[in-house]
Amino acid sequence: MGVNKITVVGGGNTGITTAFLLTAKNLGDIVVIDLPQFANTVKGKTLDILEAAPLLGSATRITGTGSYEDTADSDLVIVTAGLPRKPGMTRNDLVKANAEVIKGVMAEVVKYSPEAIVLVLTNPVEIITHLAFRHSGLPRLKVLGQAGVLDGARFRAFVAEDLGVKAEDVTTLVFGVHGDDMIPLTRISAVNSVPLTNLIPPGRLEEIVRRTKGGGAEIVSLLGTGSAYFAPAAALTAMASSILLNENKLFSAVVNLDGEYGYKDVALNVPVILGRGGVERIVDIPLEPAEKAVIDKSVAEVKELLAANA
Ligand code: LAC
Repeated sequence: MGVNKITVVGGGNTGITTAFLLTAKNLGDIVVIDLPQFANTVKGKTLDILEAAPLLGSATRITGTGSYEDTADSDLVIVTAGLPRKPGMTRNDLVKANAEVIKGVMAEVVKYSPEAIVLVLTNPVEIITHLAFRHSGLPRLKVLGQAGVLDGARFRAFVAEDLGVKAEDVTTLVFGVHGDDMIPLTRISAVNSVPLTNLIPPGRLEEIVRRTKGGGAEIVSLLGTGSAYFAPAAALTAMASSILLNENKLFSAVVNLDGEYGYKDVALNVPVILGRGGVERIVDIPLEPAEKAVIDKSVAEVKELLAANA
């Protein structure tokens, strides 16, 4: 097999940071595409990354473009295009604008890369991931979204800070929507197999969960303009690596469900194994009634927004 080709749609902070991390990891050749009026900016930024490649020990060839022809035959397409939140906005406030963006993007993506796996970051990610699937005609398990890896990383970072342990040793699973109703599953999160519930008193653990849920908003309000991009880009890169190198890692990812967990025609964060075929397996873990009730409510809300923006 030849070198993988990766397209990053959107040359904003997240798209460019993702391209930089993909280059550092030598995961394949990269095209970053933005609107034609931003083609020069994206050419400049990717040239800058190309010039870093020798220092990173990377063989990646990276280019920027305003034209979808250059994305042809991509193995993986990462979609970061669309508007970010402003302070005070919820992710759902972005739905109208970004639903239009994804429809346009997917038409072009599948025209040139009909075999690609598509990984979506654009918010509200559950809705945009489902629209990406619906408007592309791609197989269901080849269109997925990123949220749980980022939320899980925030949870891991806060636990590591609290306990003074290495963040890498902290394992977490965040289920459900990328919003206030996300469910960081404290009961199965651990430090090297020791449950968090044995390590952190309930009050402090609740505070960490609260901060995890508001992790995106905390950064939006500190920045004043734009939203987080280093951790989102790192999350996309971890997922891209598992897909392109067929690492078969288990992540929480936004997947288009067709009966799994009792839901259909909706995309939601559930545990999955990611490999060269995309979502290789949706992992079924038993949910407690209170968790299921929160997810039922989230699914109803996501479906309502989907119906209004189909
Ligand atoms: C965040 C955005 C990417 O959580 O949703 O930072």
